[in-house]
Amino acid sequence: MSEQIRIAPSLLAADFTRLGQEVAAIEAAGADWLHLDIMDGHFVPNISFGPALVKALRPKSKLFFDVHLMIAPADPYLAAFAEAGAELISLHPEAGPHLHRSLQTIRALGKQAGVVLNPGTPLEVVAPVLDLCDLVLVMSVNPGFGGQSFIRSQLARIAALRAMIDASGRRIALQVDGGVTAATAPDCLAAGADVLVAGTAVFGATDYAAAIAALRGGGARA
Ligand code: DX5
Ligand code: ZN
Repeated sequence: MSEQIRIAPSLLAADFTRLGQEVAAIEAAGADWLHLDIMDGHFVPNISFGPALVKALRPKSKLFFDVHLMIAPADPYLAAFAEAGAELISLHPEAGPHLHRSLQTIRALGKQAGVVLNPGTPLEVVAPVLDLCDLVLVMSVNPGFGGQSFIRSQLARIAALRAMIDASGRRIALQVDGGVTAATAPDCLAAGADVLVAGTAVFGATDYAAAIAALRGGGARA
């Protein structure tokens, strides 16, 4: 298990009429990353926001901007999200025919790169590109919407990826996204995840600091 736990609130669950204040509030409440869910109404059955919003928020926050692309194709938009201020860009293997090239492109833009595995995507997809990954994200819901129930079968996949990452000897973050709450977070951490995305569990709470602390559980913060 990793020594550092990072909490990444998902902006998707924030109050869209007050996004700047919402980002400032989670930053003050102890969040580590800001998770930005980009949806195109094609790869997933929902539409969220694009690079213009990422760019508008960038100067308002010191948080690490973690951009989760749920769009296909993704390649034509990688530069736009990099220029908008993403620190890390993750994409799904199903978003295009050349995962390796997409990851190379993200890294050539000077950004960290991640691969996202849907609940039904084989883990083996990530093995040949692990050397280009800064992060692997295990979806614990089918992507498209916040507020869904955690799919427990993904815990074994997190554990398998933890073993794969440890065997690689590389520093690769292992993130989990979907239905993460104070009730499911301990199982995610025990399975080896070290970055927890949480939308509803943070922005749906009245006390953001308490919600983030609850997700962190007994874990240490670097
Ligand atoms: C789902 C998104 C998630 C979502 C998480 O497609 O990738 O980041 O916002 O929301 P909760 O934490 O409410 O399940
Ligand atoms: Zn996400």
